[in-house]
Amino acid sequence: MAKTRILTGITTTGTPHLGNYVGAIRPAIEASQSADNLSFYFLANYHALIKCQDPEMVHQSTTEIAATWLALGLNTDNVVFYRQSDVPEITELSWTLTCMAAKGLMNRAHAYKAAVAANQEAGEDPDYGVTMGLYSYPVLMAADILMFNANKVPVGKDQIQHVEMARDIAARFNHHYGEIFTLPEAVVDEKVSVLQGLDGRKMSKSYGNTIPLFLTEKQLKKHINKIKTNLLEPGEPKDPDTSTVFQIWQAFASEEQTVEMRQAFLDGIAWGEAKKQLFELVNGELAEARERYNELMSNPAYIEEKLQEGAEKARSFSAPLMEKCRKAVGLRPIG
Ligand code: TRP
Repeated sequence: MAKTRILTGITTTGTPHLGNYVGAIRPAIEASQSADNLSFYFLANYHALIKCQDPEMVHQSTTEIAATWLALGLNTDNVVFYRQSDVPEITELSWTLTCMAAKGLMNRAHAYKAAVAANQEAGEDPDYGVTMGLYSYPVLMAADILMFNANKVPVGKDQIQHVEMARDIAARFNHHYGEIFTLPEAVVDEKVSVLQGLDGRKMSKSYGNTIPLFLTEKQLKKHINKIKTNLLEPGEPKDPDTSTVFQIWQAFASEEQTVEMRQAFLDGIAWGEAKKQLFELVNGELAEARERYNELMSNPAYIEEKLQEGAEKARSFSAPLMEKCRKAVGLRPIG
């Protein structure tokens, strides 16, 4: 039986944080260990250009994200792990799909609509600061997905619309040119936690409230100490369900440890003590990977080699499919 193809992209802006780890990286590495799946994970560096025009930042983030996935035990023998820009068929397909994607569909994309709404609110021209990259971004994402005939695309809720657009575009293409693409499906895992950040809002780079994944022990301790709490004294019962400290605890702890910490909250554990235990728990899970991460970051040639191997594997899928696609639309040798 054909393996289920799982595909996901990671935009290379920013440094991976605990929220990325718990919400995306850890479940993806787990899924890749099942023999029923063939997983494609890629560094979406063309997507990065939409949000970030600082070349050093895009490059640094690409390196850090690649090192993070490798350090956390991604087995590159079982998965296809590559950098988007190493697979030129993706951008080629993107244009081909652009010519099948309805403009009206793109008008409805959340990211574009949000930018227009923000402009209108500020009294600006609706298209102020909106690049064609931002506008056509769902088409590039459709190319990412359709290029590998992915069946399942694990995403956060904010990305469901894009996967549905990929499906729409694929169906339209297949209807017009013949069955070329698999229709993908978004998978949102409700069990996966969305972590809160230092200030209690969703942990996100855009809020500046993250705990980066591979801080030194000292910095990790410092960040955990900065998590916002209330003024309840030691001995006063605390509500685990509204506490970021407890929420992060839960994302790293066993069920038994979670039950114990819940009780400790009700018994009035001091914030300082809860944070100390949280540091030990998180540090314990990350210490080994942190060492590997630091080794990888000081050996970029090794990371590059892994990405080149990944690109070769990826192109063994993308090149034949692009060939088929080119023929289907009438781009073929004469005679
Ligand atoms: N747009 C996604 C994000 O911002 C990243 C991404 C790019 C992606 N291409 C993809 C995710 C293809 C899934 C499939 O999170």
